[in-house]
Formats: sequence, structure tokens, C-alpha cells
Amino acid sequence: MTYRVIQWTTGTVAREAVAGILGHADLELVGAWAHSEHKDGQDVGELCGLGPLGVTATRDKEALLATPADCVCFTVGRNWVEDPSETFGDLLRILRSGKNVVNLWWPTLVYPKAQDDDLYKELEQACLDGGSSIVTVGMDPGYGTAGLALSALALAREVSSVHMYQFMNNAYWEGEGITKFFGFGQRDAARSPILAPGVTTRYHATTLHLLADAIGVTIEEIVEDHTLSYADEAFDVASGHIPAGTIGGVRYRVKGLVGGVAKVVVEHVEKLRENDFAELGFAGDGYRAVVEGLPGITLDLKISSPAGYSGDPVAVASAMSVVNAVPRVCAAEPGVLSLLDLPPFPSRNPAAPRL
Ligand SMILES: NC(=O)c1ccc[n+]([C@@H]2O[C@H](COP(=O)([O-])OP(=O)(O)OC[C@H]3O[C@@H](n4cnc5c(N)ncnc54)[C@H](OP(=O)(O)O)[C@@H]3O)[C@@H](O)[C@H]2O)c1
Repeated sequence: MTYRVIQWTTGTVAREAVAGILGHADLELVGAWAHSEHKDGQDVGELCGLGPLGVTATRDKEALLATPADCVCFTVGRNWVEDPSETFGDLLRILRSGKNVVNLWWPTLVYPKAQDDDLYKELEQACLDGGSSIVTVGMDPGYGTAGLALSALALAREVSSVHMYQFMNNAYWEGEGITKFFGFGQRDAARSPILAPGVTTRYHATTLHLLADAIGVTIEEIVEDHTLSYADEAFDVASGHIPAGTIGGVRYRVKGLVGGVAKVVVEHVEKLRENDFAELGFAGDGYRAVVEGLPGITLDLKISSPAGYSGDPVAVASAMSVVNAVPRVCAAEPGVLSLLDLPPFPSRNPAAPRL
């Protein structure tokens, strides 16, 4: 069966999603929504660096809602940080129009049930009204942390704790946004927005609750802490200069406590030099799930580029975490789905085009 897909935005991850849809044996691209005025009426393939495809991007939401399609691949940018309300309204309208959604936007939606009952009810009602389903994935939150931990838990008899890690070397990011976000190059941790009280909890609470429900415990309190590594000498990365004595690496943890014990933990190791935090024994970019219990289980997931590939493999993986889910989401009963509901959804891309 071929599922008709509308791509909603043509940004960084969206471009990889379009390449994934084109290469997927079961998917067909039938439309696209663009946010920027200058993209209106342009060929989606041209916008995504893939050459002309004969599919035009439009800013006309009503026209797209009326376009026959099975699924929308929803990859709106990070406006959820400031105000998610307008985009959430669009999401509800898409679901009410009868189109299924695979979504990357807004971490909360990875497991909205545990985060916000009203939000969950609105989404669920929109699904029931339209006979549609939605799943939200990604890498973290998403497959890299929760998905990997769920795979490890399939082998456990006793579970004392679940610890999920993301390891990322940010030296190659060109925009200064990431440098500002983590406070790289700053002397004072107070200038690192990610370390402001409550921020890491907002990003990761959804993953903690998903895993807590998976192992059958209820989180009573969420606490956060961090460790910083300071540059012992000055060095340069793609986004700028890191002076000696300033923040060169950030390691933060968000812990879900049950009876005062950290039962479920998300930890990020964000660095600029490969050797920082070497004590964790993880080279390159990727994810780790550690289940303490019987048996003890560690799963490492490494993301890397094949020889000669100059794109961002993490962006490819993020996009494919939703693109590969399209057939399962389209086949599901109407409602709000999570990684707890869907079995792993493998790639069906014999030869997708590369950006
Ligand atoms: N969970 C994960 O692991 C994970 C990983 C990667 C990304 N993500 C999420 O995936 C989404 C896409 O990421 P990205 O890196 O591809 O983002 P991006 O390149 O910054 O932006 C994606 C698109 O958002 C559109 N946009 C910007 N402001 C908008 C607004 N106010 N309303 C509607 N659309 C707007 C832009 O449209 P125009 O180009 O037309 O201006 C752009 O194409 C983000 O929400 C991000 O948080 C999650």
C-alpha cells in the first residue's frame, strides 16, 4: 500500500524527511506547507536541495487540509519554546481533517498523557473527531533515549533503575545558537539558558514519565543537577572561539525520584572536544541506555556518517524516526500514540536520495 504524505515545513530536519519520504517504498509525497512567504509556490524538491519534484509548497493551510492525504509529517521549528498555541491549533485541525500525523514538534507531545491532561484530552478528541492518529518521536525526546531504554527493558526481570544518556559533540554546529544555549565559551554558568532552574526538567519530564509508566512506577519528584568542564586552553569550533577557562562541556542530569531514589534518569553529555567526559567511555555521537537490575543491561546506539557523506546524520535519524513510523500510525486505531504503543518501525528505504 502507498501512503500519501504532506510535509509540513521545509526546514533543517524537514529536508531529510522529504529525502526519506521519496526513498521509502510505501510513501508518496503529495504536498507541503511552508512558513516563509518567499517559499510559497516553490517546488519542494528545490527548497530541499533535491532538484524539482513537481510538488509545490504552499502557505495555504486550508488547501492542504482539503488535499487527499493519509499522513502529515509535522516538523515545525522551535516556536514551542515561546508559545506553542498557534501551531498546536494547526495540529488539531490536521487531525480533525482526518489526516494522521507523525510529529517532531514540541517534546511534551512525546508522552502528553503524563504531562498535561487537558492537552492530551484535546489531542485525543481531535483524533476521535477525525478518525486519525498521532505519534511524536525524534531522538531525544524519542528513539535515542526512550526507544533504546524500552528495547533494553525487554530483557529485564528486575529493574532497579533506568538511566538514558545523550552524547553529542557540538563542535561542528555552525550557528552560534547552540553555543549560547549551552553557555559554551562563558565563564559564568548563569549565562547558560539550558542550566536555568527548571529548563532541563521541562525538556525531559516527558521521557521520565514514559519510562516510569513502562516499568510501573510513579515519579514523586523530579530533580536536576549538572557538571561543567572548563577549557584548559583556548580552541576554535565552527560556531566561534572558546577562550581558556570558559565552559567547554556540559553534563546535566534530570532524575525521576521514587521513594527518594533516582529510578529513571535522563543525562546529556554536550561537549566540543572528543576527550571531555572521557570517563564515560562513549566515543562519537549517540545514546546509551543502562538498566540496573537483573540482568544488568547496557545498550549503546551510535550515529555516524557513511564514507563520503557530508550531511548531518543526527538530522537524518531524527527525520527517519517519524518518516518510518508513517505506515504504523496510518494503520493504528484513532488516538494519541507513543513509543509504548508502537513496535519498532524499520526503514523501507532501499535507496533514498541524499542531500
Ligand atoms: N526530539 C528530537 O530529537 C528532535 C530532533 C530534531 C528536531 N526536533 C524538533 O523538530 C522540529 C524541527 O526542527 P528543525 O531543526 O528542522 O527546525 P528549523 O529548521 O529551525 O525549522 C523548521 C521549520 O519551522 C518553520 N517555522 C519557523 N517559525 C515558525 C512558526 N512561527 N510557525 C510555523 N513554522 C515556523 C520554518 O519554516 P520556513 O522555512 O518556511 O521559514 C522551518 O522550515 C523542531 O520543533 C525541533 O524541536 C526534535
